[in-house]
Amino acid sequence: MPFVKIGKTSDVQNRKGRLFIVNGNRVAVFNVNGEFFAIDSRCPHHGIDLAGGYLNGKIVTCPGHGWEFDLETGENVILPVSVRKYNIKSEGDNLLLEI
Ligand code: FES
Repeated sequence: MPFVKIGKTSDVQNRKGRLFIVNGNRVAVFNVNGEFFAIDSRCPHHGIDLAGGYLNGKIVTCPGHGWEFDLETGENVILPVSVRKYNIKSEGDNLLLEI
């Protein structure tokens, strides 16, 4: 699958998430101390964007009702549900997402 440029590394503040729309998909990108992660932003509970969630290490907590997802896998830390995880990398200042 090809990697496409979606933005700059500076677009995502450290320990924050940011929403990107990529080919019509809502993708949440997180910066954890310079390491980038990308998951589907729609929470499988009621669809609130995980991009606006709170980070604790590599765990994001949904701002809606507190479901927690592991950025390494996209899996909920308690329940048997998950969100799609995307491969993402940085090259220089560019953020590249595999689609
Ligand atoms: S919408 Fe995410 S926990 Fe409810």
